[in-house]
Amino acid sequence: MDNRLSATHGNPVDLERMINLIKPTSDDIALDVATGGGHTAISLAKYVNQVVAIDITPEMLAEAKVASSQEDISNITFRAEDVHNLNIPDNQFDIVASRFAVHHFSDVNRALGEMYRVLKPGGKFYILDCSVFDGEESESEINRIELLRDSSHKCSYSPRLWQQLLKELSLTLDHTSLIIEQYELPRWFDRMGTDQTSREEIFRILDSLSSACKIRYPFGDDYITTYRFEILATKN
Ligand SMILES: C[S@@+](CC[C@H](N)C(=O)[O-])C[C@H]1O[C@@H](n2cnc3c(N)ncnc32)[C@H](O)[C@@H]1O
Repeated sequence: MDNRLSATHGNPVDLERMINLIKPTSDDIALDVATGGGHTAISLAKYVNQVVAIDITPEMLAEAKVASSQEDISNITFRAEDVHNLNIPDNQFDIVASRFAVHHFSDVNRALGEMYRVLKPGGKFYILDCSVFDGEESESEINRIELLRDSSHKCSYSPRLWQQLLKELSLTLDHTSLIIEQYELPRWFDRMGTDQTSREEIFRILDSLSSACKIRYPFGDDYITTYRFEILATKN
């Protein structure tokens, strides 16, 4: 498994790439949407003036707060908010970032619209989320796998679906990238508590993929392949 990236949300390589892309400055005010354990907010906080970290789950906010104090970070404000209905005026932030969360949102257009609304013109819009390879088969079958693994999964968008979502917003795309990831099994299942029946169904789905799709999704007893999509854009 040496050459496989057993990535977690706190993977320093991902966080460093995010910082290198966004290029935050010490005057910036940033919003971290769906902060979860706080990795994104904490990384940004080291470079910017202030971060507002929001999440719908109070327990996650409590966890993120603890993580930020452990790193002696004092410029993050934590708030319970639903991304679909942000209690924040328009044009407030220089940076709006969200990692590993869009696939949970029940109304993605509304959520992205809210993230866009609170970003200042000229501000940076950064997203990293699980994704699927372009094509009807991967868009449906890999999302079926993700849902079997995690019942809170709504949709991993392929690059072509992302293009459609972003078209609704007046943004200039600075960077997009589809990143291949291979996760170690059974750890990938264990993290979400996937039951045995769902694990077996996931392998059945992978086995029945067309050969064209299988090439994109190699797997074995001890690993599975997934994708992520990364976006950096500027609000017009
Ligand atoms: C995987 S975690 C995010 C990880 C985190 N962003 C990071 O960089 O480590 C997903 C988070 O999305 C949050 N979430 C789900 N739906 C949400 C919503 N409608 N509004 C705000 N947060 C939401 C969940 O509570 C959870 O904490």
